[in-house]
Amino acid sequence: MSGALPLTPALSPQAGSKHSPRPALAGRGRNPRQREGEGSRSFVIAIDGPAASGKGTLACRLADRLGFAHLDTGALYRATAFLVLDPGGDPADPETAARAARRIDRQLLADPRLRGEVVAAAASTVAAIPAVRRALLELQRSFAAHPPAPAKGAILDGRDIGSVVCPAADVKLFVTASAEERARRRLEELRQRGATAIFEDVLQDLKERDARDTERRTAPLTAAPDAIVIDTTALDADAVFERAYNLIARALKEKEWKQ
Ligand code: C5P
Repeated sequence: MSGALPLTPALSPQAGSKHSPRPALAGRGRNPRQREGEGSRSFVIAIDGPAASGKGTLACRLADRLGFAHLDTGALYRATAFLVLDPGGDPADPETAARAARRIDRQLLADPRLRGEVVAAAASTVAAIPAVRRALLELQRSFAAHPPAPAKGAILDGRDIGSVVCPAADVKLFVTASAEERARRRLEELRQRGATAIFEDVLQDLKERDARDTERRTAPLTAAPDAIVIDTTALDADAVFERAYNLIARALKEKEWKQ
């Protein structure tokens, strides 16, 4: 397999991530071992959970440690929303949104304008449109099955990875936290970026987004029945990482996966 992503031609491992300056579609190159050939398959880790639960930070750290490629799937929905909003379109319009989903490119995934709360809210609107999800599904599955070399595995974080995108993932985690704790974290993140925000507003936005994500008919936010739930409300990022890493290390060993 070559290093090129088997995605839409415009997407490549250079796209951006919200948690680090590194790509949302990133091949983490720490593990020098190349794929073993046509027969080798990718080890897939699915991480789902609500906004600000800590899943993105966790996914980045795991990708670094394991040398796996990481796809922040939320960035795909944010990019779709941005492409609709920018020219003044309606994120609830299925045709406009589906067209936008097919136009995402790697530069856009790295664009800091995707990180705003207006785009986040519109992302959860476009995410409820079946044609948008269809347009993004194959792209995500291709990334999981064929992560950019030299990665031997892929980590995807989102809302429906374990339930819909990669139902046969080797490890499924569902990372969650109380709405209040998630709002506190999001507020801190916003303030660090120099934005002014009020706790109650952030909490309200998160609750509305949770409701849209869990109540939609297509691929709602849910823990797959075989997902391991990690409640991060009372845990710091290091404790979450250790817990997840130990679970994954055990799964790698059970499957005799050589790192
Ligand atoms: O994870 P993030 O907050 O960036 O995601 C933005 C929005 O994209 C979510 O609120 C959700 O509606 C949507 N999303 C989704 N499925 C995913 C990832 C994100 O519906 N796999």
